[in-house]
Amino acid sequence: MSVVGGMFRKMAILSVKHVCKSYKTGLIKKKTKIILQDITFDVQEGEVLGLTGASGSGKSTLIRCIMRLTPVDSGTIIMDGTDLLQLSPTDLRQSRKVMQMLFQNPASALNPRKTIRESLAEPILIHQLPEATLKEIPGILDMLQLKKDLLDRYPHQLSGGELQRICLGRLLLLRPRLLLLDEPTSMLDVSVQAQIIEIMRNIRKEYPITVLFVSHDLALLKAVCDRIGVMEQGKLLELQPVEELFQHPSEQYTRDLIRAFNDF
Ligand SMILES: Nc1ncnc2c1ncn2[C@@H]1O[C@H](COP(=O)(O)OP(=O)(O)O)[C@@H](O)[C@H]1O
Ligand SMILES: [Mg+2]
Repeated sequence: MSVVGGMFRKMAILSVKHVCKSYKTGLIKKKTKIILQDITFDVQEGEVLGLTGASGSGKSTLIRCIMRLTPVDSGTIIMDGTDLLQLSPTDLRQSRKVMQMLFQNPASALNPRKTIRESLAEPILIHQLPEATLKEIPGILDMLQLKKDLLDRYPHQLSGGELQRICLGRLLLLRPRLLLLDEPTSMLDVSVQAQIIEIMRNIRKEYPITVLFVSHDLALLKAVCDRIGVMEQGKLLELQPVEELFQHPSEQYTRDLIRAFNDF
């Protein structure tokens, strides 16, 4: 954090500028479907930034563009001063370590023939991290509210929520600076959501981490985020600190979302 003119100014860890993305659809008559329209926002170091919006509004696509899993049409994505869109494949692999993403359906990311212990150790081997990193596993399990006897089980012997937390644990072992979560609760029930809130608090206590948290669950975002952005049909309508968004939403769409939330 730097001190500018006597005021604390937070640093942007990620800067998304004018990102546009479209898909060509239709086999015979080619049509262009616009998915992201001029998306611009910063993620500040250390914050949890939520992104919400209806299904199909472009949230996952935006995350995929940031991870460079899909190309953008135009715009820049800057992480720590480096334009991710200009990186060579080798440099990209480096940046992937500091930026980790939890997929919507993480269970499929685990090898069914490996024990949870083996799956947790896997990224340590792949990324050639010091072997001492293995010692962090028990602490991470605690933080994620997972029992140690899960370690000797196989993926099919765990619940969806437990699998998701194991996948999150795997990412945390890599000590990413930026964690991208895409609907991490989509396969969980409401009681587990309370647990996710608790876990997010634990993570923030233990790690100096920045999180981009995509969810259509406004209650969850309100509980874990510093700021929330609202997307609709490929546009980022507004992005505000949580209290401000709930008290003074500037867009009609957000007002409707919040009304639906309050009625719920
Ligand atoms: N590979 C693709 N080809 C064509 N259209 C796609 C592709 N991936 C996503 N889309 C479309 O992009 C829009 C945004 O999708 P997505 O980013 O998954 O939204 P969200 O995560 O907010 O639900 C949707 O209309 C979806 O159908
Ligand atoms: Mg999605």
